[in-house]
Amino acid sequence: MGGELAQDILLEELILIDEDDENKGKVVIFTINRPDKLNALNNSVVEAIKGASSRVMSDDSIRVAIFAGAPPNKPLEGKRSKPNSFVAGADISEFKGKKSEEIFEIFSDNCWEAVWKIEKPTIAMIDGFALGGGCELAMSCDIRMATDRSMFGQPEINLGLIPGGGGTQRLTHLVGYGKSLELILSGNFIDAEEAFSFGLINHICSPDELRNKTIELAKTIGSKSSHTLKIAKSAVRIALNSPIDEGIQKELRVFSDLFDTEDKEIGVNAFLEKKTPHWKGC
Ligand code: COA
Repeated sequence: MGGELAQDILLEELILIDEDDENKGKVVIFTINRPDKLNALNNSVVEAIKGASSRVMSDDSIRVAIFAGAPPNKPLEGKRSKPNSFVAGADISEFKGKKSEEIFEIFSDNCWEAVWKIEKPTIAMIDGFALGGGCELAMSCDIRMATDRSMFGQPEINLGLIPGGGGTQRLTHLVGYGKSLELILSGNFIDAEEAFSFGLINHICSPDELRNKTIELAKTIGSKSSHTLKIAKSAVRIALNSPIDEGIQKELRVFSDLFDTEDKEIGVNAFLEKKTPHWKGC
């Protein structure tokens, strides 16, 4: 499927999950398109990501959303090529001269929460730098796929700052207290292999493989019942906010509720009849 340029910020691409069945829904790819600044999140990109997140929530045909960074432009003659980047952070130039009240207001309604609050599955497709707000954007997604040349870090400490897009919390949930503090206190960058070794990213692949592998996973996920996916995501999120005994009780409730859905009958019958399930999403 072809792409469509949404302003100059996000490239939106819709890919059918099943080429033969329009009703099977779509995978959407949003590409942050500011490669000359390593896709740094300035105010207009932040607004575009928030808009993209609303679109994913409201468009029933979208089953899975992928967030990516645009590759570098061809360099001007005599100039060096810019490096590949997912997102190299919040736009540092927009921090200059800002005071706490203003920044508190700006960050109160931010793109990291907008992505985090998407109830559908989300994947970060990372090729290059995922730093600061870029690492945080990747962590706002459910799954992270990255190339072997990607680099990760929370270098805000070098600016006299700390992560402000949920990084202190989501990183700690994802990789644990010790590794989280090491990254946040040192500001060091780590490569994809190290990020993979302690669970910051789900998969590593070559740059040639990244797109196909990410779309393949998105299509696999998107081929399930949209209702069950939403419940599965919300059930796993309970683990982040509840003590385990309470979480297990809540899981029992939502698991049981699924027995009143049409899709549970569809799924069970399809298995027993050795057929492919055709979900209704309810
Ligand atoms: N905000 C604003 N601009 C940024 C940026 C950011 N977070 N990250 C990179 N850029 C810009 C650079 O200023 C440069 O712009 P210019 O070409 O107009 O001078 C352009 O992107 C290319 O970056 P450059 O630094 O020249 O590339 P490099 O290969 O030498 O270094 C990095 C790459 C990622 C190591 C370096 O850009 C960097 O450290 N970026 C900031 C990372 C950071 O601290 N992020 C957290 C922010 S809260």
